Parts: sequence; C-alpha cells; structure tokens
Amino acid sequence: MILEIERLRYAYPDGTAALDGVDLSLGEGERLGLIGANGAGKSTLLLHLNGILRGEGSLRVFGIEVHRDTVARIRERVGLVFQNPDDQLFCPTVFEDIAFGPRNMRLRDDEVRRRVEKALHAVGLGGLETRHPHRMSIGQKKRAALATVLSMDADLLVLDEPSSNLDPRARRELIALLQTFGRTQIMATHDLSLVRDVCTRVALLHQGRIAATGAPDEILGNTSLLEAHGL
Ligand SMILES: Nc1ncnc2c1ncn2[C@@H]1O[C@H](COP(=O)(O)OP(=O)(O)OP(=O)(O)O)[C@@H](O)[C@H]1O
Ligand SMILES: [Mg+2]
Repeated sequence: MILEIERLRYAYPDGTAALDGVDLSLGEGERLGLIGANGAGKSTLLLHLNGILRGEGSLRVFGIEVHRDTVARIRERVGLVFQNPDDQLFCPTVFEDIAFGPRNMRLRDDEVRRRVEKALHAVGLGGLETRHPHRMSIGQKKRAALATVLSMDADLLVLDEPSSNLDPRARRELIALLQTFGRTQIMATHDLSLVRDVCTRVALLHQGRIAATGAPDEILGNTSLLEAHGL
C-alpha cells in the first residue's frame, strides 16, 4: 500500500475541526480524485501526506508511519503541489525553484539541469527559467509549482487543485501529463471532468470524513450523492 490512513483527525490551532476520522487507502499506480465542497477538508488532508500537518490517528506512507523522525525520508518520496503556488515558489528564478528539490537530493549539476529542463518542458514553460516566479501570471505560477515537484521524480504525487487557473491548452496538457505519468497520484479538485479523464478512483470528502469512494463513473454519475454533499 502506498497510503494507509485510519481515523485521522485534525483541528487547527483556533479549534476548527477540519478532519473528523478519515479512513482512506491508496494502492500503487492508483490515481485518486479527492472531491468535496469548499471547506470539506481536502487541502487539510493533503497537507498530512508529507507531514506538514500532523493529526491524531494513523497515517502510513509507503508503509512508514509519519512522525518527526520519518518525515524527512517521506518528503523525499512524496511530491506535494500546494493549492496556492505562492506557497511553493520562493527562489529568485524559476530555474532555482525547480532545481531546489533535485539539489537537496544531492544530484550532480548536470543531472539537476537535465531534470529542470525536462520538468519545464513537461509544463510548457521552456524558456522562462530566468523569470522571477512571483512576477508571472497565476497560471504560469501553477505550472512552475507543478514543475518543482516533477523534477523530484517522486513516488507519490499529491496535487491540490492542479487545473485551477490553467488556460484550456495548459489544462489539456496537464491531463495528458497526469494520464501518462506512471506514478501513484492523489488530487483534490473541483474539476470533475479532470477527475473523469484522469482518475482511477474517487473519494468524496464531506465535513472532514470520507462520505463515499468508488469508480469515477459510479460517484460522478450519482447526482443525488453529489448534491447531498454540496457539489
Ligand atoms: N489555517 C487555518 N486555520 C483555521 N482553520 C482552517 C485553516 N485552513 C483551513 N481551515 C478550516 O478547515 C476546514 C477545512 O479546510 P480545507 O482548506 O481543508 O478545505 P478544502 O476542502 O480544501 O476547501 P477548498 O475547496 O475551498 O479548497 C474549513 O472549515 C476551513 O475553514
Ligand atoms: Mg483546498
């Protein structure tokens, strides 16, 4: 199992209960779509997958329980793309941001460069490597944020709203990329057609709990289920 979550609970420091006993597992090669209304807890759940947030209950990634001593090891294998790209990009150039992960992994300079070029090409940002990340459009930032994780060649790709703010062509390219990217993926999104095109399974989150899981056709075709949960 790539991911095993049992009875995961989390409340933010101000007392807001965001996760209220989540049970979820993910097998190798699955592409899970996490859907749910605004505030359902999707981002909160994803932030647990590489130990940025730590709740109560059990959370194992690649069979390893996430805690203080294992989190560094887990982060090398889990690539998380934040909902807001400004949370991801902090270097003076796009190149530096995308090179950050590979450099941290102590790869050689030529390998770092190769990975940056490949990731930039994959997200259609070739030629923009010297740009300042914060002086790009939102859609360009989204793509750069994805590239910072692609360059790490992670075993589990965690994406929070990957298609938001993308133009139609960039969105189509994202879908093609995710369909052919042979790694396990979990993506939180309101883009149900992205889920239909990319995901092998869907989990519906409602008020901090998994309300349903199933095949994309089964969940997305169930209008009354979606409406009952604010979608
Ligand atoms: N930093 C925070 N401090 C306190 N409460 C928070 C914080 N971030 C989120 N919350 C609350 O936690 C709950 C879950 O929020 P979360 O961001 O996980 O939802 P989401 O499903 O990702 O929503 P969206 O579709 O809008 O991205 C909500 O009630 C939200 O108000
Ligand atoms: Mg969110």
